[in-house]
Amino acid sequence: MPEKDDKDAKNFHVDVPTPNEPFFLRGSNSLDWGLKNRLAKIFNPQSGRTVMLAIDHGYFQGPTTGLERVDVNIVPLLPYSDTLMCTRGILRSTIPPSYGKGVVLRMSGGPSILKELSNERLAVDIEDAVRLNVAAMAVQVFVGGEYETQSVHNMTRLVDAGLKHGIATLAVTAVGRDMVRDAKYMRLACRMCAELGATYVKTYYCDDFDTVAASCPVPIVIAGGKKLEEREALTMAHNAIQAGALGVDMGRNIFQSENPQAMIQAVRKVVHENEQPDRAYDYFLTLKNEKKSA
Ligand code: 5RP
Repeated sequence: MPEKDDKDAKNFHVDVPTPNEPFFLRGSNSLDWGLKNRLAKIFNPQSGRTVMLAIDHGYFQGPTTGLERVDVNIVPLLPYSDTLMCTRGILRSTIPPSYGKGVVLRMSGGPSILKELSNERLAVDIEDAVRLNVAAMAVQVFVGGEYETQSVHNMTRLVDAGLKHGIATLAVTAVGRDMVRDAKYMRLACRMCAELGATYVKTYYCDDFDTVAASCPVPIVIAGGKKLEEREALTMAHNAIQAGALGVDMGRNIFQSENPQAMIQAVRKVVHENEQPDRAYDYFLTLKNEKKSA
C-alpha cells in the first residue's frame, strides 16, 4: 500500500501557465500523440527536418548497385541518418535491433522492373508494422499510371490502418518512365496524396518546387533520384529545402557516392544547417580526404 499523501505543502505552480504548444510539423497538429511521437523519430524536432536514408530499392530491382551488401555498405551509415527506409526483409535480416531511430517500412510491392511497376499491392500486414515498431509505412502512389486507382487505394487502406495504430503513412509519388516530372504533375500527385490522408509525402525535386511544397498541406521530402555528381546532388537538396521541403529521402546519391559516409554528412549540413551547396561540397571533400589519409 502506498503511504497516504496528505501533506499540505504541495506546489501547484499556479503562476506558471500550462503549455499548449502546437506540434512542430506542418499539417500534423490534429494527429494523435502516438503518431506525433513517431513523427518526431523521423523529423528532428530541433530543425523540423529529416535525412531519411532510402535503401528499399531491392523490393523491385534486386541487389541495386551500392546495396549488394547492406551489412557492409549501409550499416556504417546508420549513425548519420535520422530515419531508415527499408523492407521488412532487410530490417529483420540485417539491421541491428539496437538502431534507435525511426524506421520507415516499405509496405507495397509486387511487380519487378521486368513488369508494369504500377501494379503494386499492399505487401505487408499492419500487424507486422506494429510488431516491427516502425515510425511510418511507405507506399507507392502512381498518379497517371496504369494502375493509378489500385495504388491510391493501397495508400488509403494504409492510412486507415495507420491512423488506427498511430503509425504515419508516407505516400511516395512514383512518376512513370514516360511522364513529365514537372511542377504541374508534382502538385497534382502530392496534393492528391495529402487530401486522401497521407501523413507526409515524398516526391521529386523540379523547377518551381516552391509551388509544389506550398500547395501540399503536409510535410514533403524529396527523393534523390538517379546518381548525380556530389556537388549537383547537394545543390538539388539545398534548393529543395529552401523551397519548402522538410528533408530528403535519399538513396543512390548517398550509397552510390564515391564516399557514402562523407556524402550523408554533407547532406545533413544542407538539410539541418541550411548550408550552402559549395560549402557542403567542401565539407564532403574534407571528410573524403580525411578518410584517405587516415
Ligand atoms: C523506390 C523508392 C526509393 O526509396 C526512392 O526512390 C529514394 O531513393 P533514391 O534517392 O535512390 O531515388 O521509393 O521506389
